[in-house]
Amino acid sequence: MRRRQAASCRGHIQSHPKWGASFAALAASEADRKGLAHVTAMSSAEPSPGHSRRDFLYIATGAVAAVGVAGALWPLISQMNPDASTIAAGAPIEVDLTPVAEGQVIKVFWRSKPIFINHRTKKQIEDAQNVNVSKLPDPQPDSARVKAGHDQWQVLIAICTHLGCIPLADQGPYDGYFCPCHGSVYDTSGRIRQGPAPLNLALPPYEFISDSKIRIG
Ligand code: FES
Repeated sequence: MRRRQAASCRGHIQSHPKWGASFAALAASEADRKGLAHVTAMSSAEPSPGHSRRDFLYIATGAVAAVGVAGALWPLISQMNPDASTIAAGAPIEVDLTPVAEGQVIKVFWRSKPIFINHRTKKQIEDAQNVNVSKLPDPQPDSARVKAGHDQWQVLIAICTHLGCIPLADQGPYDGYFCPCHGSVYDTSGRIRQGPAPLNLALPPYEFISDSKIRIG
């Protein structure tokens, strides 16, 4: 009789619009009272004397549900707090080009993406300019891929346009970039010349804020 009343009471709480949301917590405290708070639904423990297996599963499920709700809420609340890395990930970065020697390529990170900054030699610039653009898989003149008056600086997002590997700089038959994953070859303008990549390496948004400093982003 007592068990039937309890079951009836639980059914009422579970379906009541006001108390339904609190049911998991009540079930958890009931589990505490009955010494079952540390038993999970995966436990193979038998129900204690005087309690049916159905009660045991019912209470254990309630306790797990309470933990589950708290667990689900935490990441939600946590996501609402912007953290420093998120702010930093979206912020523009400034790069001093002074230490980058001619012929040298450096790699920096912007928004967690690798960026190549290539201080091109005179020969590399000429090679990039003296190309029959109409024959390229992704036709683009070199002038569209550098800033006017700064031909020596090539700034690229270092992510292969095939499947996203990071190419190697100063590699391949065009003295540009080579992606070892499936053999895509880019020239010193970052244009695709051979291999499966369909597009040129992308350019990040950037500007020269002085002759020797750029802001990316
Ligand atoms: S990911 Fe670069 S060639 Fe496939």
